[in-house]
Amino acid sequence: MQDQLSALITKATSELPTLKARPEFEAAKARYVGPNGELTALMKQMGSIPKEQKPVVGKLINEAKTQLTALLDVALARIADGELAAQLGPAIDPTLPSPDIGPGTYHPLTLVREEMCRILRKVGFTVADGPEVETEYYCFDALNTPADHPARDEKDTFYFPASSNFGNVSKKTPDEKYLLRTHTSSVQIRTMLKGEPPIRIVSPGRVYRRDTTDATHSANFHQLECLYVDKNVTVRDLKALLDYIFASLLGKETKTRFRPHYFGYTEPSFEVDLTATHLPKVKKPWIEIGGCGMVDPTVFADVGYDPEIWSGYAFGMGLERLAMLLYGIDDIRYFYQNDLRFLKQFA
Ligand code: DAH
Repeated sequence: MQDQLSALITKATSELPTLKARPEFEAAKARYVGPNGELTALMKQMGSIPKEQKPVVGKLINEAKTQLTALLDVALARIADGELAAQLGPAIDPTLPSPDIGPGTYHPLTLVREEMCRILRKVGFTVADGPEVETEYYCFDALNTPADHPARDEKDTFYFPASSNFGNVSKKTPDEKYLLRTHTSSVQIRTMLKGEPPIRIVSPGRVYRRDTTDATHSANFHQLECLYVDKNVTVRDLKALLDYIFASLLGKETKTRFRPHYFGYTEPSFEVDLTATHLPKVKKPWIEIGGCGMVDPTVFADVGYDPEIWSGYAFGMGLERLAMLLYGIDDIRYFYQNDLRFLKQFA
């Protein structure tokens, strides 16, 4: 028995270090210590061993078992190390330069914003900016939007606590309410209060509404606002400009149409639809893209422009929607997730 046990250990000592992969190891383990293995077979011989020798032989068997288990543990650890090394690949050389991650790229919303500003600059518009933390005056009152208008409701708009004071940016009262602007139309008022007509501005920027996020809504999105004030401006000028910008951005096949609507700050007011079925993924014949109209005389009077002399048009539209049309994106949430697989497609 002793000879058989030491022969078994000798065999295991030379065989186990040569095993390369887990299946080979499992087979060897079964051969040595499995229910039909060699050690188990020797243990079964205990029954036929004379009683007085049993303690000695039992001890020998236990020792052999401990040795075998240790040899198996070492072999398994070595195989596992090999597997990990294979997963990690070749050893890392920290002195090498890091892999080239390729050139950076603009976000698709930036691309569309810049392209729209470029298109509008070509016809004389300059870019104007306004704050995202706005007062009710610029966002609503000066835009002839009464106190009971739904856009002003707490449940549609993010207001700051009454005690907030961001520096009294309004020309009106010191105790006015501050909010995150719900549209870029506030920049119209800020621009008109700053100077005299004629005015031709485009103002892109972030806006905020209490919308529940889904494929087409986000509580924070982007708009692009335009205001044109001059003498003898008509709806024809407005329609011509919209036709021009959408054809420039989306292709000359793009057509626009107006649907009558109501906005406090324009009269008449329209919603603008466009058709761009030549673009991939555009299925609907008409897609609502923004609002527009002729600046309401009340608004002019409020900022000190004589409505008898000056006329103008204004419009606002969502940048996300334009980018979704242009690039065939079907979920607004992609814009905000910073997923490189998405962003790299605009490189
Ligand atoms: N401010 C409107 C909105 O957010 C869009 C809009 C409508 C802008 C008419 C305008 C306008 O300048 O004249 O839905």
